[in-house]
Order: sequence, then C-alpha cells, then structure tokens
Amino acid sequence: MESIKTIGILTGGSDSPATNAVIRAAFVKAKIYKYKVLGIKNGWDGLVNGNVIELKRDLVSGILSSGGTILGSARINPFKIENGVEMVKDNIRKFSIDSIVCVGGDETNIIMHRLCQYNIKGVGIPQTIDNDINLNDYSIGFDSAVEIATDAIDKLHTTASSHHRIMILEVMGREAGWIALYAGIAGGADLILIPEVPFDYDYVVNVIEKRRERGKDYSIIVVAEGAKPEEKNAHIEVKPGLNSIHQTQLGGIGNVIAREIEKRTGYETRVTVLGHLQRGGRPTAFDRILATRIGIKAVDLIHEGKFDYMVCNEGNLIKAEPMEKVLSDYKPMDLDLYEISRIFH
Ligand code: F6P
Repeated sequence: MESIKTIGILTGGSDSPATNAVIRAAFVKAKIYKYKVLGIKNGWDGLVNGNVIELKRDLVSGILSSGGTILGSARINPFKIENGVEMVKDNIRKFSIDSIVCVGGDETNIIMHRLCQYNIKGVGIPQTIDNDINLNDYSIGFDSAVEIATDAIDKLHTTASSHHRIMILEVMGREAGWIALYAGIAGGADLILIPEVPFDYDYVVNVIEKRRERGKDYSIIVVAEGAKPEEKNAHIEVKPGLNSIHQTQLGGIGNVIAREIEKRTGYETRVTVLGHLQRGGRPTAFDRILATRIGIKAVDLIHEGKFDYMVCNEGNLIKAEPMEKVLSDYKPMDLDLYEISRIFH
C-alpha cells in the first residue's frame, strides 16, 4: 500500500458532459481515504504554471448534472514546452502531490503515461465524446453527445420532410465514426458515413434515388467529420498511436457532400454542423453513472498503489488496463454495427 496523502485531479483536452461528475466522485472517494484533494486548473497547464487549488466539499457540491469542467481545460503538452517536464515535476513537489487523476481523451492521457516514466504517479480516465479509447466500451461524455445528435436528427426529419430536402448532419468524432453511427441508428438516418469506411458518391446518390422511388422525397444523411470519399487507390490513413498529439481541426465534409449531391441530382440539400453543441450541457443519466463508477475506481487504484493504469469499462465491468496497452492504438470500429445500419440505407 502506497502512503498517499494528497491527490490532484486534472481535466485536459476537449471537455464533455459528465466531466464534473467524475471530479465529484473522485473527490468524495478520496475524502473517504482522508486524502487532501487538489484541483489542477486547465489540464496540464496547471502543473506547468502552478495553477492549483484545494478542492473542498462546497466546490464539488451540485456539479453532478452540470456540463463543462469546474477545473477548466486546455490542450497544453508539457513535452512540447521548453523545460515543461521539469516545471511539472517542480509543481508536483511544491504542492506535495502524491498522485494524479487524469481525466481526458488520448492526448491528455498519453501525457500522463509518459510522465509515469519520470516517476510521476497517476491513473487515467477515458473522457471524450469521440469514444475512440481502446479497450473501453464507453468513454465518459459519449452517451450525452449521442443523445444530442439523435435529438438533432429527430428535428431534422420534420423539416426535411416539409421541404422535401436532403438534410446532412455533420457530427464530431475526429477519425472515429462512433457518434455518427450510434446517433444515426438511434435517429433513423437514411445514410451514415463514417471515417472507417470510405464512401462512394454513386452509392450516396443511389440511396437517395431509391428512397424517391419508394415515395420518400427527403433523406437524412449523418456524416462524421472525419469521413472521406473513396477514390481509386485511395490512401487509407494509418491512425497515429502512442506519443502523437493530434492538433488538426476537422470539419467541412458535410458541405463538400452537399455540393456533390446537388450537382449530381439537382435536389436541394442543406447542411447542419452540430459542432460544440455535442460537448455542452447536461450529461445523460448513463454518463453520470459511468463517470461516478470510474471516478471512484480511479481513486481506489491510487489507494492500492496501482499507477500508469486507465480505468476502462467492458460490459458492466469497471476494470484497470495498463495505459501502455490502452494508448498504443485506437478502438477499432464495430463494423457489425455498421452493417446493421446499412440495412436501412
Ligand atoms: O476530441 C473531441 C472533439 O470534440 C472532436 O470530436 C473534435 O474534432 C475536436 O474535439 C474539436 O476540438 P476543439 O474544441 O479544439 O475545436
């Protein structure tokens, strides 16, 4: 058993609903172990610049249902800052932080994993709407994002049918199509385009025309921001793994597809880019429960002296997986589920 007195919680990278629910759960469990709990502000930036506060019960009270993160977030990588790692180590010493609960997606957790090699102790929590964390069924925030995107599809259905239009909904997810696939199925989209399966414009047009033949003069297409058209000899990008930090901003594929559909069919096509709405607002009950269970497990791991682990979930099981294993690749797409979606195309 490690002698832990003080833990620090940080939330980095892209925020999502239920991030606060993790902070609350980790805090409450840490207090049961009688730890002092520090809040590291704005992700890794807080440890580079010494922006750290003590968390008290009144600060975490009432945050379960709120969006965002009370600790703030930023995409700061100490490994990309001159003397960044030294600054982190100095602040860890200064604030007597024995271990870190690191909440975020791959970018944030890769930094935690690398810092573990410098004898900085920490555990990772998978929190990203993209749901692309390996060995992990659901990332915190994903379910809430799917709910928001599904609601958008429901709304687009009514206006699409009134105006006999093609409606394209572009959703987030980076190089992963999880939000598109789940929301597309839940919302009854007529076509779902995901990065993992490059699409063909002839197929897109064919789906629209087949619906017309069945008397449906409107269609809903859900496209993931990372989706790409298939080309002859198309180069399928190999996704970056451990040690890479993606900084590119995606978005715009919805408009590209809309132009092509209008050119090929003459049908009026409109695009909705859902954007950061997917990351805001109240978390679903599912995400709150998941965040609570994962936050508690992270503190339990620290208490057991298990560091450099991610708290993952599989089925109803909350489990610890080595960070090295989790972060060495992205989660493969569920192509069986994608095939299920295609029977509705
Ligand atoms: O990783 C989560 C995510 O919301 C992606 O789906 C999206 O591409 C990206 O973050 C947007 O990042 P930013 O908030 O920097 O615009």
